[in-house]
Amino acid sequence: MKNVKFKDLKKQYQILLNEAEKVTEKAYAPYSCFRVGAALLTRKGKIIVGSNVENASYGLTVCAERSALINANILGERCFKALAVIAKGGPKVAKEVISPCGSCRQMIFEFSKISGEDTEIIMSDSKRNKIKIARISELLPLAYGPENLGMEVKKY
Ligand code: THU
Repeated sequence: MKNVKFKDLKKQYQILLNEAEKVTEKAYAPYSCFRVGAALLTRKGKIIVGSNVENASYGLTVCAERSALINANILGERCFKALAVIAKGGPKVAKEVISPCGSCRQMIFEFSKISGEDTEIIMSDSKRNKIKIARISELLPLAYGPENLGMEVKKY
């Protein structure tokens, strides 16, 4: 895990984080008021975004990261160099970096197995004062994955 300043991020990652920030405006978060934005960077340099979508039943809520992954899959993209995530609002303004929840980590891991890319996760606080970068393998050590089922998912 690395701590970095926004100005020291490579340009491509600065753009990615900006896109994640922009898409927080599209969040549907009437319950938590915590608007999360995620932006994926594909191997070919395309950016695909997602935001959280809450539900009155709470448990059905979809996080921004998973919403970006589903969006990307529909667009035919399963290979991600990086994922940036940022949150706005909420009862306490996010002073700490937001990091993907366990379910999202599991799903990012699945795509990393398909693509062979150990996706870099760029996590920011709401003001981009604090930024952490870690690879998915670091965020989900000893992960359960396709190999546990004897699956070779690279062909997908
Ligand atoms: N949330 C995300 O979208 N991504 C995360 O990494 C953590 C949490 C959302 C889910 C819910 O809508 C709100 O944040 C509060 O937990």
